[in-house]
Amino acid sequence: MNALETIFSRKSVREFADRPISDEALDTILRAGMSGPSCVNARDGAFLVARGKETLNRMADANGKPAEPLRRADAGVLVCGDLGCAFARAKDYWIIDGAIAAQNMVLAAWSMGIGSVWLGTYPQMDRVEALGKLFALPESVIPHSIIAFGYPAQAQTAETDQTAETVQTAETDHWEASRLHFETWQ
Ligand SMILES: Cc1cc2nc3c(=O)[nH]c(=O)nc-3n(C[C@H](O)[C@H](O)[C@H](O)COP(=O)(O)O)c2cc1C
Repeated sequence: MNALETIFSRKSVREFADRPISDEALDTILRAGMSGPSCVNARDGAFLVARGKETLNRMADANGKPAEPLRRADAGVLVCGDLGCAFARAKDYWIIDGAIAAQNMVLAAWSMGIGSVWLGTYPQMDRVEALGKLFALPESVIPHSIIAFGYPAQAQTAETDQTAETVQTAETDHWEASRLHFETWQ
């Protein structure tokens, strides 16, 4: 799929097939998240990846009823903003940076045939607090959104073999492993 096909064919997917996302595809999705622009290039997004059923269910509990698709997803990514890195004169840009990272991941996933649904967290402070508590997030790290990923229960698109490895250039690579956390924040 080219970029326009990806953008215009995407829709939220809430029912997922029993088929795992490969580590390589997940890596590409995360790299897409880190490849978005950020205010003053602050790169203030942080990503907590959950694949374990128990963790996914706990995330769903913390994010309220509309987060039910997480229970059926193969992976959930909690996008956070790290205020410690955000633009000091206007820290609220972290919210925009977080939305860009989330949408980049959604589109990258879809370009590989992986469906997703965006689950809103910020600014619903009960959800922000519950997720902060669940993952014992540092005070400077604010949950922004959760994206639930998985192959659609009903196949909807042709898949591609393209990954970050085959497409990304050194110039566009913003990869920083330190911004990534698996199952727990530590
Ligand atoms: C900020 C935001 C929060 C959302 N939260 C939820 C949610 O909690 N649960 C859900 O099922 N969908 C959620 N969605 C998905 C929207 O319902 C969906 O994008 C919208 O209905 C348009 O449908 P489409 O994505 O298929 O185009 C959210 C989308 C955004 C952008």
